[in-house]
Amino acid sequence: MSEPMVFSAQREVQLRFLCPEDIGDVKKLCAEWFPIDYPDTWYEDITSNPKFYSLAATYHSKIIGIIVTEVKAKPKINKEDADILPSQYPATVEVAYILSLGVVNDFRRHGIASLLLDSLLSYLTTSERHHCKAVYLHVLSTNNIAIRFYERRNFRPHSFLPYYYSIGGKPKDGYSYVLYLNGGQPPWSLLDYISHCGSVLAKLHPCALPVHIMRTIQGWLGRMLISSGPTCHKSQS
Ligand SMILES: CC(C)(COP(=O)(O)OP(=O)(O)OC[C@H]1O[C@@H](n2cnc3c(N)ncnc32)[C@H](O)[C@@H]1OP(=O)(O)O)[C@@H](O)C(=O)NCCC(=O)NCCS
Repeated sequence: MSEPMVFSAQREVQLRFLCPEDIGDVKKLCAEWFPIDYPDTWYEDITSNPKFYSLAATYHSKIIGIIVTEVKAKPKINKEDADILPSQYPATVEVAYILSLGVVNDFRRHGIASLLLDSLLSYLTTSERHHCKAVYLHVLSTNNIAIRFYERRNFRPHSFLPYYYSIGGKPKDGYSYVLYLNGGQPPWSLLDYISHCGSVLAKLHPCALPVHIMRTIQGWLGRMLISSGPTCHKSQS
């Protein structure tokens, strides 16, 4: 039986960018973690194309975790995720899509995924990336561990995606989870509009309108009296 591992993720784990030499290791890890076959071009892309923010967590130079994220402009968001951002946001606004996050089994529950996510979030919240308003991902509806991880990290469910995945030829449901950044906001739902109207109406005094009209009329009358002669006039406050 293997001994429980004692190590400090903060001190002993290093982060670095993935490079083409990592393709073999990353392929093996993704085959262990995900029930999805990615084409070779995907591995080539995530390890060399600068549009991906692809980080490895290493322990004694061995990869023990990865996070792969693509930052894309609003018009490039897939149709099923288009309502992540409000429609009035300009096309220059960006989102970050987490394609992959995984940690080697023996190293789980040591904060490695948190370390990778923290590094991504620091990158996305720098001043150069202030136009990136959300980070999101898709997860199998049955992947409770990943869901707990993301919820712990303040991601919130955005959509239920029926039959989003095809696993072994069978359709499986998914969710999208989102974390808003840099002042980003979700679009307003009908409920938001109703509660906004409700709170505006609640702030109005029931007699506010008649009182306002009365004061306007009194103001006119006062001005007429002043202009028609030296009469004593007490203004309304
Ligand atoms: C999801 C995954 C990346 C988490 O990695 P990790 O390094 O173990 O995560 P962390 O140690 O940073 O966990 C942070 C928090 O997430 C939650 N969490 C993580 N794993 C959990 C588990 N097995 N059970 C319950 N909560 C869990 C906990 O709240 C944990 O904080 P805590 O340890 O202080 O209680 C890892 O389990 C994994 O690689 N799974 C397989 C691949 C996968 O499903 N990826 C996600 C695809 S969308």
